[in-house]
Amino acid sequence: MFEVDFKNGEWVNPHIKPYGNLSLSPALSCMHYGQAIFEGMKAIKTDDGEITLFRPFDNWERLNFSARRLKMPEIPKGLFMDAMELWLKLDEQWIPNVGGASLYIRPLMIATDDYLGVKASESYKFLMYGCPVSSYYSEPLRLRIEEQYVRAVRGGVGEAKAAGNYAASMYPASLAQAEGFHQLLWTDAIEHKYIEELGTSNFFAVIDNKLFTPATNGTILKGITRDSVIKLAESMGVEVIQAPLEKGFLLSKYQEGNFKEAFATGTAATIAPIKLIRFGDVDMELTVDEHSLSSSLHRSLDALKYGKTEDQFGWIYSISHGVSFESN
Ligand SMILES: Cc1ncc(COP(=O)(O)O)c(C=O)c1O
Repeated sequence: MFEVDFKNGEWVNPHIKPYGNLSLSPALSCMHYGQAIFEGMKAIKTDDGEITLFRPFDNWERLNFSARRLKMPEIPKGLFMDAMELWLKLDEQWIPNVGGASLYIRPLMIATDDYLGVKASESYKFLMYGCPVSSYYSEPLRLRIEEQYVRAVRGGVGEAKAAGNYAASMYPASLAQAEGFHQLLWTDAIEHKYIEELGTSNFFAVIDNKLFTPATNGTILKGITRDSVIKLAESMGVEVIQAPLEKGFLLSKYQEGNFKEAFATGTAATIAPIKLIRFGDVDMELTVDEHSLSSSLHRSLDALKYGKTEDQFGWIYSISHGVSFESN
C-alpha cells in the first residue's frame, strides 16, 4: 500500500510498504469528528497485458473536491498519479487478466491529529491500497423509494465522497434490506419529492425512449460512471435529460406504460439493472433483458474499458508512462 503524511503544511515521506495495520492514537481526530474521505477506481489488465485506469484524473479531482469541502489538504496531481503508477507497477501481479476482473483501488485520506476538540486537523494521512475483484454480475436490483430518512441535504456534504455519508445511510438501508430490498432510492431532503441516487451509485430511468437522470445539485455524488454513461448514450443518439426527477413522474409514466427500464451506475457494478422500485404501496416492475438500453450501454462501456473498441473520449489512461516519484 502507498502512504504519505501531511505535516506542517506539506506532504512528507511518501512510501510504499506491505499492506498492514496502522498504529493510531485513540484521540485520532477522524475517529471523533469524521474528517475522512475516499475514492474508488479500478485498474484493468487488457488482453495484450497493458495496465489501464479509467478516467483517473476525474477521481483525483473528486478527491480534492471532497478534501476542500471537509477542510482537508488537497493532493497534488503528480503525487497522486506517480504513487498510483509506481504502486501498480510493483503490484502488477495482483491485477487479474481474466475476463471482466480488475484491481479495485481505494485511495483515502484521514485526519490524524491526536487532539480532543472540534477543529480541523492539522495533520493527515493519505493511503492507497487495492484488492482484486471479479466481474460484478449482481442480480437485478430491488429498490425502495425512501421517504423518511435522508442521505444528503443541499449545502451539506452529499456531493463529497465523505465517510459520514455512508455512516448516515446504514440504518435506513438496513431497514430496507430487512424488507427484502437491495438498496434505497434516496429522495431530496426537503420534500422527499425528487429522486436523487442509490447508496453507492447513480440512478437512470428510460422513459419515452429518453434517458433521464437526476441533475447534480449539490446533494448527489457526481459519479464518473454517470458522466460516462451520459456521454456514451448521447454518442449513440439517445437523448439524455439531466433534470430534477419527480417520483410522481416515474409513477405516472410507469402507469402509462412508458417507464419500463431503470439502472444504477457506479465503479463497482458499472451498470446494474433495476427490476423493481417500490413507491409507497406500488411496486413498479421493470424489464431486465439483454436488449435493454442498459445492456447495450454496459457492453459498450466494457468494450471501451477493455480496449476492444476505440477510446473516442480519451478516457483510458495507460500505465506505461515514466515514473518520476521516488520511493524510499
Ligand atoms: C453515493 C454514490 N453515488 C454514486 C457513486 C458512483 O460513482 P462512480 O461512478 O464515480 O463510481 C458512488 C460510488 O462511488 C457513490 O458512493
